[in-house]
Amino acid sequence: MQTLEIKKDIHWVGILNATVRVFDAVFQARFGTTYNSYLIQADKPTLIDGVHEKFTQEYIEKLRSLINLKDICYIVVNHTEMDHSGALPFLLKETPNAQILSTKTAALFLKNILHTEVKGKTVEDGECVSLGNKQLKFIHAPYWHWPDTMFTYLEEDQVLFPCDGFATHFCDERLFDDRVDTFFEDFQYYFEHVMGPYRKKILEAIEKIQNLNIQLIAPSHGPILRTDPWKYINAYKEWSTSRKNPDKKLILIFYASMYGNTRKMAEAVTRGASTMNTEVKLFDAASVSPELMRCEIESADGILLGSSTINGDALLPLWNIINIMFSVNAKLKKCATFGTYGWSGEATKLMEERLRGLKLNVVQPPIKVLLTPTEEDLKKCFFFGYDFAKSLTTNPVT
Ligand code: FEO
Repeated sequence: MQTLEIKKDIHWVGILNATVRVFDAVFQARFGTTYNSYLIQADKPTLIDGVHEKFTQEYIEKLRSLINLKDICYIVVNHTEMDHSGALPFLLKETPNAQILSTKTAALFLKNILHTEVKGKTVEDGECVSLGNKQLKFIHAPYWHWPDTMFTYLEEDQVLFPCDGFATHFCDERLFDDRVDTFFEDFQYYFEHVMGPYRKKILEAIEKIQNLNIQLIAPSHGPILRTDPWKYINAYKEWSTSRKNPDKKLILIFYASMYGNTRKMAEAVTRGASTMNTEVKLFDAASVSPELMRCEIESADGILLGSSTINGDALLPLWNIINIMFSVNAKLKKCATFGTYGWSGEATKLMEERLRGLKLNVVQPPIKVLLTPTEEDLKKCFFFGYDFAKSLTTNPVT
């Protein structure tokens, strides 16, 4: 597939990558992905977004099939992550008359990515740049999902270019949302994993585009959204809006237990934590999908983790839960650890260290029980839970 005119004088000039299965070494791309880039053939020809460095040659050939590269006046860098800026060093050599348009933060990032001075102009939030017969408007959207990000809106055609916003890792050469296979599950996966930690910022930027007429959303990955663009915007809005009970503090307790002793501790902790104005949910970490816990973790006010120690370490299901926390907004959430042990008992301390590393707030020392908990131990566990709940209800997270 070469290029595709998505609206009059606007061409998709992106790359299809049907074979990738893991994106950025982290994110699932079960149906591959695309690197979308768009050429606006206005009086001042303009390129929006770019592609990964390894597809530079294919990208340049596509562009050459449509335009003399020396005629390109602007390259809009909505976001500098290397899947969009990788081809820039070569592209800039071929486009000597082009000026980069970006936010100030993106310009700074580009300096450290390209290690060379580039001809650029930074644009303010709401600023417009004329392309002669068309006009671009720039809408700053920091933390969609990097601090450098902005949207570009092509006024005459009512097209929004939000880069990673409303994107999907999904490769289908039919490109338009009404032509490709079902992709909404992957659209939601992308939101939760890439945008999920920045829900407040998502809502702030959606507020800025609320009054725009948008006929088509042209993101940087996956299908181009033209059937009902607001369906996708409203989905982001809904997923970013908190649904938790504002009157109660939500505490999640995850445990993994080899012989049921840490489970007994977890149950006693749960009883203690439930005596305050709290909602407490207890999970056997070995029986839940960490992925399904993502929203729960995002909504929780406090998190308690319990693991027995094996070979000087915590059990894998707990590490899987902790690993989820780096990609959700868990920073500053209150937490603490507990667990049983036979002789060394490193699990609680190791979990604590990792939680601190992820910038969670460890509010009380761990509680450890040697082998089988006694009635006295379980009483301590009860008060461990009670104290934790009290720290949330009397000194809440702000
Ligand atoms: Fe598609 Fe944040 O890069």
